[in-house]
Amino acid sequence: MMENSRSMKHAESLIKSVLERLNLNEVMEEDMEESIDHGELVAMLVRLLCNQLELPVDFQQQIVLAAYVHDIGKLRLTKNLYEREKNTLQIEKTRYMRMHAKVGADMLKEAGFPAEICNAVYHHHENYDGSGYPANLSEEKIPMEARILRICDVFAALISDRPYRRGFDMDTAMELMIEDNKAFDMKIFLEFMKVYHSKEFDQVISFSYNVNAKKRFAEKNIS
Ligand SMILES: [Fe+2]
Ligand SMILES: [Fe+2]
Repeated sequence: MMENSRSMKHAESLIKSVLERLNLNEVMEEDMEESIDHGELVAMLVRLLCNQLELPVDFQQQIVLAAYVHDIGKLRLTKNLYEREKNTLQIEKTRYMRMHAKVGADMLKEAGFPAEICNAVYHHHENYDGSGYPANLSEEKIPMEARILRICDVFAALISDRPYRRGFDMDTAMELMIEDNKAFDMKIFLEFMKVYHSKEFDQVISFSYNVNAKKRFAEKNIS
């Protein structure tokens, strides 16, 4: 694995320390790398957005911390999927993977993380219109941490390569989010758009470019 930045190590050490504390040592290397890169990218976006929102520093730090580990529940779930890969329908997999929000929050709680962070992770798939999961919360009932995470998480997922598609370019990702915005708190999303057009966004562009390039290189060398 490429270890080319200090912040990279931050996501990695956080995720690994949780897994160690819970005695979970059978995570696939590929899933681990995906989780670290994705956590890192979301945390980078969250940091920029929190700054734009002028949130208090300790509140910002909490959300960034939640961002690093928000999908950690997937690492506990994917193992079971590999074992059943052949017989599992896509729709079953999708439904099953929805558990990662609760599973992740439980893992973090068990590892001693503060309640606010566990709560942010628990709600990071709630949609502003109430159509998300696991609690179907809507609007301001969704903790602000989770509303911030939701926007950054969707953007990060859209610009990243997936096993079934290449990442979208950033302008297309923004357009897709503008068109389908039911998941987002519009007040926060408008601030995200400002961040997107700011100079600071260059770090996101280069980080994402490197992660996608790394995946493509690995793919080429396998096939
Ligand atoms: Fe997630
Ligand atoms: Fe995510």
